[in-house]
Amino acid sequence: MKIVSGPASTELGEKVAGLLGLETVPLASKTYPDGESYVRLESKVENEELVIVQTTSPPQDTRIMQLAFIADAAKRHGAKRVTAVVPYLAYARQDRVFLEGEAISVEVVARVLKSAGIDSLITVNIHQEKVLSKFPFPTRTISAIPLLADYLRQKGYQKAFALAPDRGALRLVEEAAEILGGECGFLEKHRDRYTGQIVTEKKTLDVYGKKVIVFDDIISTGGTIAAAAKIVKAVGASAVCAACVHPLLIGDAEKRIIDSGVDEIVGTDAVPSHVSKVSLAPLIANALKEHGSG
Ligand code: R5P
Repeated sequence: MKIVSGPASTELGEKVAGLLGLETVPLASKTYPDGESYVRLESKVENEELVIVQTTSPPQDTRIMQLAFIADAAKRHGAKRVTAVVPYLAYARQDRVFLEGEAISVEVVARVLKSAGIDSLITVNIHQEKVLSKFPFPTRTISAIPLLADYLRQKGYQKAFALAPDRGALRLVEEAAEILGGECGFLEKHRDRYTGQIVTEKKTLDVYGKKVIVFDDIISTGGTIAAAAKIVKAVGASAVCAACVHPLLIGDAEKRIIDSGVDEIVGTDAVPSHVSKVSLAPLIANALKEHGSG
């Protein structure tokens, strides 16, 4: 097995290769003046089982095309099998038709990747796991929540209240609470499908004087986390941390979150950023070990 670190996940790919003692295939990549992407594998991949590590955070479409081009180059030059490790899988939230006339974007992405030569895919905390059953190749989603919770436990958040800012994140906080050793709960969030505006219902939560960690899969504009943080601050939480797997942090998301009363934002290197304090490398290395022996 050899690893190619895609342009979006260079450090993560190198870390995974280091942990597994695997050789990496050097990759040349560039963007042409008109915005088109170019990639070239700089060593042989014939008969190899190749793993491409490439996240698809913004600019999503570019990252997806780079991934597809690497897969095509690999198969074209004789790779036996190509596995994509895509820590953040773009378009995963458009996993069904919400309004008449829409596309199921994530299924289109999956078909593009299949036609480029990808044989299987590992991702991390995909928004809705059930969409993976529609992918045209074997897939697996692994959870970064134990790593995040363990990091926070060691940083003084032991027994903190794990709060889901909406029902969709309930499974995340149940997983986190097992490691943190505290309680967990959730809020109700409603999104206007036309404007994207969210409304989070106020709720009485037993968090007075307690440390609270708001867990979500993705932080995009920060609106979801900020709404949840305001609610727990208003009922007396002593400290609030925002934890997520995919810190997209679009525009002024960080300021918005801090202004809502959050003391700290912690994310993973699924999306490299200055809040990516937890590396997914051990989690991915482990998944690849299982993948290889499976
Ligand atoms: C959607 O339900 C997701 O789990 C996140 O809650 C959402 O993507 C966060 O987006 P934003 O930061 O823009 O509120």
